[in-house]
Amino acid sequence: MTPLSESNANGLTLLVVEDEAPIRRLVAMEFEDLGFTVLEADTIAQAREFFANKETQVDIALFDLRLPDGDGLSLLQEVKTSGHEGPILMMTGHGNKHTVLESFKAGAYDFLEKPFSISGDLMPVVARAAGEVRLRKENTSLTEQILHNTKLAALGELSATVLHDIRGPLSLIHVVCEDISETVDEGESIGPSELKAHVAQILKACDRIRKLGDHLRNYSRQDAQESMESKSLENLLDDSLFLVQQKTRSNRIKVTKMVDPSAQGVLLRCYPNKLEQVIMNLLSNACDAMSKEAVRELGLVAKFTAEGLLLDVSDTGTGIPLEIQGKIFDNFFTTKPRGEGTGLGLKIVRNIIVEHGGELLMTSVVGKGTTFTVRLPAELVTRQPVF
Ligand SMILES: Nc1ncnc2c1ncn2[C@@H]1O[C@H](COP(=O)(O)OP(=O)(O)OP(=O)(O)O)[C@@H](O)[C@H]1O
Ligand SMILES: [Mg+2]
Repeated sequence: MTPLSESNANGLTLLVVEDEAPIRRLVAMEFEDLGFTVLEADTIAQAREFFANKETQVDIALFDLRLPDGDGLSLLQEVKTSGHEGPILMMTGHGNKHTVLESFKAGAYDFLEKPFSISGDLMPVVARAAGEVRLRKENTSLTEQILHNTKLAALGELSATVLHDIRGPLSLIHVVCEDISETVDEGESIGPSELKAHVAQILKACDRIRKLGDHLRNYSRQDAQESMESKSLENLLDDSLFLVQQKTRSNRIKVTKMVDPSAQGVLLRCYPNKLEQVIMNLLSNACDAMSKEAVRELGLVAKFTAEGLLLDVSDTGTGIPLEIQGKIFDNFFTTKPRGEGTGLGLKIVRNIIVEHGGELLMTSVVGKGTTFTVRLPAELVTRQPVF
């Protein structure tokens, strides 16, 4: 057993509840000498105050059974019921088997019969209790440390996600500004309606960046997470296509959007920003896969079936070779040149779909193209009233 020393007593608080002043003072002095912070109470009322005070954390307590305003056993029961976990030692000169049993039942740590020797009887018990309190404190701080690290890791991942997804709207702003500047350079004038349309695009992209930033800022606040909303499917598809407009335009990709009659007028209960991220990432991958192909056709098709809502993103790109199909969802797996791909896209996509209770399916033929299908549960779908 570890003997009591200044090093393992240091920082621990001992509460002595005893109405006989000479005994209380003696115990207090001995433990103060060992490095304990000792609190003294001669009544139940005073002891209660120490337990109630959040600033005086009682680590170990010593209760006399007979006190002027009640008995130590009731105090023990009261303190334990309120959730106090620290060891409580009971001491009495009038103990009988019944009280001892009741004390243990109520959660007493140990029992000392008066008269006892402080160094021979009390100290070894307090040493054992102090060891346990230390261990519990270390465990708690280790758990807190692990939680903190986990949170930091998640924050790192989220920052990478935000940086990843900011690129779409950012390059859109770039292209629109370039368009305006080229028009001016060529000496052509821009009419107010055209200018307004350009500005609207820039504002929309800025709004998107702001939302991504909000997501990061709100990360630590559980209540500030994006909430589920009803979003029109058509708007969702258009907003996602808008985010990859720069890629489709610069690669001269033919885009076909088709909403099957079964999915027309559909409202989706979803996290709209996150679902836009999903479609945007799939569209963006499809564009990249076609950049060097002769035929560049991008399809975005929505239909509602017995399996739920199906969103197909198909391309006529390179296809995904069988040997890498098992790796494409891994963090940081990319076949793109350095600086072009981070290998996070599909991982983000799949996590968000799973968060919606759906799944991501894929079929691919090398040399022909790839189709990713997002399946979302039918429960998320409602319909706009038709008038
Ligand atoms: N439509 C597709 N056609 C062909 N290959 C694809 C397609 N979609 C994904 N891939 C393959 O899967 C890999 C991983 O895709 P993912 O979106 O996770 O990362 P990335 O596009 O490389 O980088 P980023 O983090 O910028 O999205 C790609 O590098 C590519 O090899
Ligand atoms: Mg990608």
